[in-house]
Amino acid sequence: MTTYYISTFGCQMNVHDSEKMSSILKDEGYIESDSLQEADLVIFNTCSIRQKAEQKFYSELGRIKELKKRKPGLTIAVAGCIAQQEGKNIFKRVPYVNHVLGPQNIHMVRDILKSNINRIIAIDDNPLIADTDLPAERKDEVRAWINIMYGCNNFCSYCIVPYTRGRERSRPSIAILNEIKRLAEKGYIEVTLLGQNVNSYAGDISFPELLKAVDKIEGISRVRFVTSHPKDLSDDLIVTIRDCEKVCEHIHLPLQSGSTRILSLMNRKYELDDYLRKVDKLRKELPGIAITSDIIAGFPNETVEDHRMTLKALHNIEFDGIFAFHYSVRVGTKAAAMGGQVEDSIKLSRLNEILEVQDEISEKKNNVLLNSVQEILLEMPNEKYPEKMSGRTKTNKVVSVSINGKNRPLNPGDLINVSIIKANRHSLEGMIIA
Ligand code: 5AD
Ligand code: SF4
Repeated sequence: MTTYYISTFGCQMNVHDSEKMSSILKDEGYIESDSLQEADLVIFNTCSIRQKAEQKFYSELGRIKELKKRKPGLTIAVAGCIAQQEGKNIFKRVPYVNHVLGPQNIHMVRDILKSNINRIIAIDDNPLIADTDLPAERKDEVRAWINIMYGCNNFCSYCIVPYTRGRERSRPSIAILNEIKRLAEKGYIEVTLLGQNVNSYAGDISFPELLKAVDKIEGISRVRFVTSHPKDLSDDLIVTIRDCEKVCEHIHLPLQSGSTRILSLMNRKYELDDYLRKVDKLRKELPGIAITSDIIAGFPNETVEDHRMTLKALHNIEFDGIFAFHYSVRVGTKAAAMGGQVEDSIKLSRLNEILEVQDEISEKKNNVLLNSVQEILLEMPNEKYPEKMSGRTKTNKVVSVSINGKNRPLNPGDLINVSIIKANRHSLEGMIIA
């Protein structure tokens, strides 16, 4: 019996790629091990979006060296964005790695198993990626990720993704819809359409048309999509979100900076005012919509004044939540070669200020929900807290439920109404309404 273990870093795209590799491995008769130490094949599905993610991977890989000494038959494969970027350099840096597999070539995991070659390296551009349907071994039985497009054409000057995941390619709508229908038949309740720029979908139909078609699939109760690029947020899309019953009232719309000058250096293709107008439109058509964002602190040439503009934008917009990062130099990107790099200590202090400002806003927004009734979709229990249950509102806020005094059995996948009894900064607590 041969066993495997996949260690996944980074974004939802990687999580879903791991689900696909897992499916191939199971199809080949491999058995998933829940311990890296005991597996015969270990795959690291890596992320290179920021230096921290890279360091995390290399230190995990360092720790496995001893294991490989003790178990010479252990096969180690590096997949994901670092694999794509480093290619065969990984073998030089870490000689005990056996195979390197880029994100456009995860199907090659089958070849790893079948080949006698010790070092397979699969990092070629794969133009067929959107036309090849790979099954996925999903752990979650309620919520599923579905790729609708791959890659990115935008080349934001700080970002490595266009270099690791290649150009944009959209899946044909029929393949997407069939996959979702099959998931609905299996009992899935929620689907999240995935793409680096999901709203730049350019398949045989438009993205709003795709949402409308998904909205009609019986059995699915909730439809989400990540990540949206502000430049492609059309009026048509806003109205579609409003009119589709199952499409959730939440959009993740990375702003990155509140300074138009920095946005231009970032090559984001919109100005702050364009972004603000889109937020106004979203809130006019969908008053309850939650808007979340990504922010980068300390991009090259960012002045105190630019930073203040970001803080001001946070105050003006009042996002429901943000992911904020300090700028991380990615070799090979335009921003890495720019003059005016900001000192680490300044980047960090700006990041802290951003997080502090947003924390207050998030708390204030959550407090507004106190005593309101929200519908949540109960999720699979977290392995760490099996006694707890939680779910998300349509606006993607996590609510943990107190089940005191309730004898009704609760199951993942249930849509239940709860009254919000406590608002924390990053989550809510709710009580089930009979
Ligand atoms: N440094 C810091 N943050 C980055 N992101 C992408 N590249 C970098 C970088 N070099 C952030 C952006 C993006 C999110 C996924 O990661 O905010 O939206
Ligand atoms: Fe990176 Fe910009 Fe593409 Fe997003 S849109 S993946 S930030 S290059």
